[in-house]
Amino acid sequence: MGGLIPDSFIEELLGRTDIVEIIERRVPLKRAGREFQACCPFHDEKTPSFTVSPQKQFYHCFGCGAHGSAIGFMMNFEGLEFVDAVEDLAHHAGLDVPREVTRAAKPSADLYGILDAAAVFYQEELKNNQAAVDYLKKRGLSGEIAKEFGIGFAPQGWDNLITRLGTDAARMALLKRAGMLSEGKSGEYDKFRHRIMFPIHDRRGRVIGFGGRALEDDGPKYLNSPETELFHKGRELYGLYLARKSQAKLDRILVVEGYMDVVALAQFGFPNCVATLGTATTGDQAELLFRAADEVVYCFDGDRAGRKAAWRALEATLPRLREGRQARFLFLPEGEDPDSLVRKLGQDEFSERLSEAQSLSGFFFDRFTQAVDMDSIDGRAKLVETARPLVEKIPDGVFHDMMISELETLARHRIAKRAGGAAKPSVSAGKTGKPVQQRTPMRMALAHLVQNPALAANAGGLDAFEGCDLAGFEIYRELVDFCAQSPNMTTAQILEIWHDHPAKSHLNTLATWQLPGDDSRMAQEYRDAVVGLELQWTDVQIARMPKIVELAAEQRKKLLSLQQRRQELIAALQGDSSE
Ligand code: UTP
Ligand code: MN
Repeated sequence: MGGLIPDSFIEELLGRTDIVEIIERRVPLKRAGREFQACCPFHDEKTPSFTVSPQKQFYHCFGCGAHGSAIGFMMNFEGLEFVDAVEDLAHHAGLDVPREVTRAAKPSADLYGILDAAAVFYQEELKNNQAAVDYLKKRGLSGEIAKEFGIGFAPQGWDNLITRLGTDAARMALLKRAGMLSEGKSGEYDKFRHRIMFPIHDRRGRVIGFGGRALEDDGPKYLNSPETELFHKGRELYGLYLARKSQAKLDRILVVEGYMDVVALAQFGFPNCVATLGTATTGDQAELLFRAADEVVYCFDGDRAGRKAAWRALEATLPRLREGRQARFLFLPEGEDPDSLVRKLGQDEFSERLSEAQSLSGFFFDRFTQAVDMDSIDGRAKLVETARPLVEKIPDGVFHDMMISELETLARHRIAKRAGGAAKPSVSAGKTGKPVQQRTPMRMALAHLVQNPALAANAGGLDAFEGCDLAGFEIYRELVDFCAQSPNMTTAQILEIWHDHPAKSHLNTLATWQLPGDDSRMAQEYRDAVVGLELQWTDVQIARMPKIVELAAEQRKKLLSLQQRRQELIAALQGDSSE
């Protein structure tokens, strides 16, 4: 991958990309005034609440809250990483992605190359080895599915791969970097020997590692590639590339534990299936799963180890359960794994089992209510104490609120709305039950600016705000400066360029606020917000003045002028509203 992509390029890319065109090719859009509309591709709906604004170069769904730039859309819709989304859009726009090349990030084209060559070698070897073919047949794999997954065979011997690919020092070094070699006293030798080989692909279909299964009981059952510069077990999922290839946006994705499970399920009509790589499910993986599908079903053994793995998956999932996403759990009967079960039950019955999978909330509360004595106050207190911090990991929204109220019901008494005591300031529940932020002057000013950067020209000087320490003012000042310098930027460009800014998610939300469509009202509202801000700051300064009798002459003058300014500002606001 290598190197950071400079912000100036992101700006140029978004300047040359039309979000309407990018989305239109994937989701049919209808014009509605200044914007375009569609039924949201990110959640189920019958009436369109997904809008795309050509002015802002920004999309937003009023139903599920999904929003972002063309880059964000590609990440969400195509399940791409940031860099991959940028590369796709750049390709489309006919641009080359420049990199601020860091020393650590050398081009890895030849590393991908040697891994791909290894995969080809193993596939050829499988054709030549009857015992390996027989093994796969015995396991019930069709030739077709073995081919689709690129399954191969590493023959017996210490240096088959080395002889084939490690033809010079440079290529030996590549094999080593790719994790294909082991090191012994007398030098390096093939890491994978006498094993069925499962190539592991990244999301773009490039081979980044292997899992190797022993044919007989010699050594560990599975041997996996070590972590390398390309292969990070916690950030990849076996089968994800093929699952996504089968359908752009899956309705549901299944998560299992083994390579064989993924392959068997695909053969039996479940191409929407991935496996973790011998480790617990990570947050990164949970995010990848939800980018691929809105519903994730974790299929784990019903035994202790399986339930523990499921719990880890649940913990990784909670912070990513935003609106429209759900996770469920299928616990398999004793002695079965998905591979054996789908062969036994067949597609239809396995499908039925899937639809009966336990809900996340069911699994969550079952576990807690089993662990404590629900009949005692102490037990219920313990339940609240341990479950609450986990529930709080769920993003604000309907599901979060439902989990809280379930917890309250279980505890049979009301508990404070938030662990910290009072509810968050200036957040009230809207019609949908989603928290709605109040439209304070600060938020209005920021919202107008981020949605229409050209307004910065109307900001007026910031002299009146000298020393201002109102919450959010520093961000406002920064945004005014930024927009004043780049009045032609779109909302999308600002948000992408501010991607590392601490206020990023705040600005993202403000970018989705519905503001009046016509320019003159927008400018007026923005001016009002600025006047409102100054009024707020004036009030704060007046309140901070010492008592009038203690004031020196200089300070009296200052107070008087503040009071006068206050009257002017109020008059300005009233003048506007009576127009
Ligand atoms: P399983 O033992 O359930 O394997 O391990 P499996 O996929 O069902 O394989 P078969 O059916 O016996 O051939 C599940 C996963 O755990 C990791 C692998 O990723 C495997 O797919 N594992 C297992 C290892 O990494 N090393 C091992 O020795 C065993
Ligand atoms: Mn198995």
